[in-house]
Amino acid sequence: MGSIPTFGTVQRTIARVKVGVLTGGGDCPGLNAVIRAVGRRVMVRGHEFVGVLEGWKGLVEGLFEPLGAREISGLLPRGGTIIGTTRTNPYKIDGGIDRVLSNFESAGLGALVAIGGEDTLGVAARLYAERQFPVVGVPKTIDNDLSATDYTFGFDTAVAIATEAIDRLHTTAESHNRVMVVEVMGRHTGWIAVMSGIAGGADMILIPEQPVPIEEACAQLEHRHERGKDFSIVVVSEGYELEGLADENEVDQFGHVRLSQRGVGDALAREIEQRTGFETRVTVLGHVQRGGTPTPRDRVLATRYGLKAADLVEEGKFGRMAALRGDAIVDVSLEEATAELKTVPADWYDVARAFFG
Ligand code: F6P
Repeated sequence: MGSIPTFGTVQRTIARVKVGVLTGGGDCPGLNAVIRAVGRRVMVRGHEFVGVLEGWKGLVEGLFEPLGAREISGLLPRGGTIIGTTRTNPYKIDGGIDRVLSNFESAGLGALVAIGGEDTLGVAARLYAERQFPVVGVPKTIDNDLSATDYTFGFDTAVAIATEAIDRLHTTAESHNRVMVVEVMGRHTGWIAVMSGIAGGADMILIPEQPVPIEEACAQLEHRHERGKDFSIVVVSEGYELEGLADENEVDQFGHVRLSQRGVGDALAREIEQRTGFETRVTVLGHVQRGGTPTPRDRVLATRYGLKAADLVEEGKFGRMAALRGDAIVDVSLEEATAELKTVPADWYDVARAFFG
């Protein structure tokens, strides 16, 4: 095991446990802030802290790295994840679960903090339900599509980045009398599109949950031009269903297609130009939305989630996930959190719709 913890005084004298932490799925601003908070609290309590490298792959292959005070310092502003991530699904690997269990045991681990979205935490929920695996979860994703929590960390940063891009695109749209289409991430939910679209003053927002047909979207843009506005900003979520646009077939180990390959932004821009005659350009924001330093709000949320996860470990409350309800950090079952996607409700879309046309 690595360095002896040097944070403050050890507060408890319970049996020393080795606590592992892993980050799975897409990287996300705030992952390192969670690692820092979990590590800080477990070390203060006298436990050891170990990084499981590259998500579930680290448990399948036995990839571990001790984390000490030095390793977890200076992490608050740092994007990405210091312990790496993959989209590995141990349930899709021959003997994968047995390897997870035996590597966990031979590393001497007593508990695991899994930081991830629906896929990573779905594995955690199943391992807990079927094998009583001692795991707690932390809700991560820029998509904000996890149930049982009001917000995931990383989402605020993605919205801030997308909003800044929309603000910048406004000046070109206005100067050239163009329609600017902005494609944002979010997978099968439109949270990033709706929030950044509202914040950035989008004139049309297209998301999977509220499938406004292309005819209606174009009619709204034409109406806007008729009332003297020569430019428009259209925010489209990568998962928006545009008629005639096929999904690519390639899927990852969790069965997800790569939505960015569908090119909905490009296809939409072409349709808008053909149907309205307005000159149209597209910007695909892509991975810039989850890169770099987290916003203060995400740093704080990630920190609170990390401390809560460490508390859940201390209390032996496995199969649970740290969650935000209102302004309070609570715990919910991993099963509830991963049962279904949290989609954008109609009343949020109504806020956005009030500014269309
Ligand atoms: O889940 C986060 C996310 O960024 C989605 O919004 C997006 O569809 C996907 O990951 C992209 O995945 P990858 O990084 O594998 O291209």
